[in-house]
Amino acid sequence: MLHTTVLLREAVDALVTTPDGTYLDGTYGRGGHSGMLLQRLSPRGRLLAIDRDPQAVAAATQGATRVEDPRFSIHHTSFAHMAETLALQGVSKLHGLLLDLGVSSPQIDDPARGFSFRFDGPLDMRMDPTRGESAADFLARADERQLTEVIRDYGEERFALQVAKALVARRESGNPVRTTGELSDVVARAVRTREAGQNPATRTFQALRIFVNAELEELQQALNTALDLLLPGGRLVVISFHSLEDRIVKTFIARESKDVIDRRAPFAAPKPMRLKSIARVKPSDAEVDANPRARSAVMRVAERTEVAS
Ligand SMILES: C[S@@+](CC[C@H](N)C(=O)[O-])C[C@H]1O[C@@H](n2cnc3c(N)ncnc32)[C@H](O)[C@@H]1O
Repeated sequence: MLHTTVLLREAVDALVTTPDGTYLDGTYGRGGHSGMLLQRLSPRGRLLAIDRDPQAVAAATQGATRVEDPRFSIHHTSFAHMAETLALQGVSKLHGLLLDLGVSSPQIDDPARGFSFRFDGPLDMRMDPTRGESAADFLARADERQLTEVIRDYGEERFALQVAKALVARRESGNPVRTTGELSDVVARAVRTREAGQNPATRTFQALRIFVNAELEELQQALNTALDLLLPGGRLVVISFHSLEDRIVKTFIARESKDVIDRRAPFAAPKPMRLKSIARVKPSDAEVDANPRARSAVMRVAERTEVAS
């Protein structure tokens, strides 16, 4: 159930430009990055953390894993709402924002959370089980077209239509899918080809998780907000684990790293770039050998320019 932090030193090195600064860890998880960040900050530094999972927040506030450090505070919310949360803490500007996206090992490894086809459990998949719709509830109401779109667009599953048809047929026979084991069985029968080393349900599980947690929308919102929050020279560090996330981060940084010309006003001065792309980092072979979850990770680093937003 332990979470092995990916790109720990690399992320902290990229994020901290001044030890006296104010930083936000938008994905606390089990505090791997936060722990090293606190070691790097001076007594004047400040670290705020966010996680949408109440269990992550509990880990930071209770029991043996509790963080007792006057420079630290943690808040239960989505990073899409970080500006409001920071404002309530009297913070309007940051020297750095870290997002280490996706799910943590304690989430995946807990059958009751319903994230994994490796364990049988209720098909929930919400990172924040206190709100929103579970994956099972979505499967119970979505029509064939909606199911196909979600499984195709977020899972990049070639057999999305076949999986959707099988799910609807099962529901109409009075036996809707309620567990991870049932979903794996339905998908395994609908997906005809096998990808080497991959469970046939991998893509459908990824798709439902992204949909249920609105992961791509939340990420886009956080990136837009980061432009307003970061001080000039402040760093944005984002670690992604699948190509849909990384494409959003890459496109955002590329778009903001160029002077923007308004096509409707071609003679007006271009709007100067708001970000400078700094690095794209992959885990070392040694890290991937020690932690297979690191294999798909990509970290992108950008720096806020002087330009007002
Ligand atoms: C990969 S883990 C982070 C691990 C952490 N860096 C560590 O070293 O322990 C991702 C965490 O981000 C949280 N998370 C994912 N999306 C989020 C969102 N939109 N807002 C807040 N937290 C989110 C998840 O609940 C999970 O705990």
